[in-house]
Amino acid sequence: MYRNRTCGELRIADVNKEVTLSGWVHKIRKMGGMTFVDLRDRYGVTQLSFNQEKNQELCEQANRLGREWVIQVTGKVEERSSKNPNIPTGEIEIAVTAIVVLNAAQTPPFTIETETDGGDDLRMKYRYLDLRRNVVRKNLELRHKMAFEVRKYLDERDFLEVETPVLIGSTPEGARDFIVPSRMNPGEFYALPQSPQLFKQLLMVSGFDRYFQIVKCFRDEDLRADRQPEFTQIDCEMSFVQQEDVLNMFEGLTKHLFKTLKGIDLPDFPRMSYADAMRQYGSDKPDIRFEMKFVEIKDLTTDRGFGVFDSSEYVGAICAQGSASYTRKQLDELTDFVKRPQIGAKGLIYVRYNEDGSLKSSVDKFYSESDLKAWAERCNAKPGDLILVLSGETEKTQKQLSELRLEMGSRLGLRDKNNYKCLWVVDFPLLEKDEELNRFFAKHHPFTSPKPEDIALLDSDPGAVRANAYDLVINGVEVGGGSIRIHDSALQQKMFSVLGFTEERAQEQFGFLMNAFKYGAPPHGGIAFGLDRLVSIFAGLDSIRDCIAFPKNNSGRDVMIDAPSRIEQEQLDELGLVIVNREK
Ligand code: AMO
Repeated sequence: MYRNRTCGELRIADVNKEVTLSGWVHKIRKMGGMTFVDLRDRYGVTQLSFNQEKNQELCEQANRLGREWVIQVTGKVEERSSKNPNIPTGEIEIAVTAIVVLNAAQTPPFTIETETDGGDDLRMKYRYLDLRRNVVRKNLELRHKMAFEVRKYLDERDFLEVETPVLIGSTPEGARDFIVPSRMNPGEFYALPQSPQLFKQLLMVSGFDRYFQIVKCFRDEDLRADRQPEFTQIDCEMSFVQQEDVLNMFEGLTKHLFKTLKGIDLPDFPRMSYADAMRQYGSDKPDIRFEMKFVEIKDLTTDRGFGVFDSSEYVGAICAQGSASYTRKQLDELTDFVKRPQIGAKGLIYVRYNEDGSLKSSVDKFYSESDLKAWAERCNAKPGDLILVLSGETEKTQKQLSELRLEMGSRLGLRDKNNYKCLWVVDFPLLEKDEELNRFFAKHHPFTSPKPEDIALLDSDPGAVRANAYDLVINGVEVGGGSIRIHDSALQQKMFSVLGFTEERAQEQFGFLMNAFKYGAPPHGGIAFGLDRLVSIFAGLDSIRDCIAFPKNNSGRDVMIDAPSRIEQEQLDELGLVIVNREK
């Protein structure tokens, strides 16, 4: 028997009990004739005490232990003379009578503490040690609990978890596929699924009615804080549903998770059309923890001789409450912020609405105080507020203003991580035009159903067709997205033709789906949540990496196992692969 108790469970009521614990040596402290060792396992830390006077040999043995050695101890639970109120086991210690070293350890390359001295790269290389840290393990515990509660909620509502294949053909989800060569079919390749989209729709044709799967998805796209090449979806699909049914079911799931995991009762989620989101926030995933909505002021700015505004398609303002006192330096910082290449604005105009009611702007040369007053009124600004204005081509400027809004929100402390604001963004456009290629692409995916009342526009004005598609946004993060699907093979064929697929190519790529639809496809729809993103929001993390046990770094590498890596020539030959320009 290695242990009969864990390092997290002993309390004052256990005093005088004989116990055996196993774990890692977290810390060793020598004080006078005493040695104290903090013994750690997943459940907590328990203090071990060794008294030189009582047992010199044992005490010396303890002094020879090193950090992260794995040991087993037996001893008696005693009340501590100096208690530690910060940990649950802080009232007791173990007066050790025997130690067994189960395994010695090298000194770890960084400290196994919440505030560790290890940098990012080092911690990723030794991720198994990083995972010993409380803060990291807690995120994975939360992840486990979330997956568990998801299964519970969906199981209680008759959803069946069905596994779908990982070696498939390309799915048209918009990102690049990861490709796997097939040895048995030389020259042919599998693709790893970007999502189980097609399979879940086929399961509806099979009559499964309600499906879900907590499933790995793979996308070969550029990485960001909220993107990993392999990530996990809570993927769901339902038959005989309309948009309203799906939204209600998954608003229910989200509320259930907040309630059970965080003890928070959320109010009903507001809904916003994509068009309103873009107009008011310049983003299809607005952070509605704070207002600061866009105000269009183009009509108030023309014909005053300010060429920049006159030649702009769009002039938009936001009002930062209480920021009129921003210094020149702070305003310069904001200007630099919007001019960064990632944002790309040419400049920033500001108006200070001073406490005394006077208005002062960076374009005083062109605009009188009464002009500025009109802007302020439209912005609902009050004395003490700061108005920030960007101008240019509509879509681009709205995106830039959105970044500025988020930056101001952060600077003003309006984006509290513990304040959760959920939002459904609905009525997405069905199609998106690529101006360079002069053709339409599906905004969500090609199986998304147009709104019935917009179907007639598919021929005349495809860009104006709205979809029965929706995203769940929490605190400005797209946490999930889905749609009602096309279940009619003729409409699906029509959609492919709008997307520029020839009939042969559509048949080649999706023939199995269109054929399946001929055998009695029920109306259906669904959604997929990004589990990693959801966990990160619940845990207040800045990057989804921190809730993934073994994540990839920003170049898509696993630095711990050093993947991706080259393979032997023999393996290449077997797969019929020839690498050109290997050195590149
Ligand atoms: P979508 O492409 O919107 O929809 O993906 C659903 C959700 O998955 C998460 N997500 C990611 N998380 C981490 N890293 C990534 N690289 C990544 N990409 C996406 C997001 C996103 O909202 N088949 C459809 C769903 C459906 O229509 O039912 C789909 O995959 O949180």
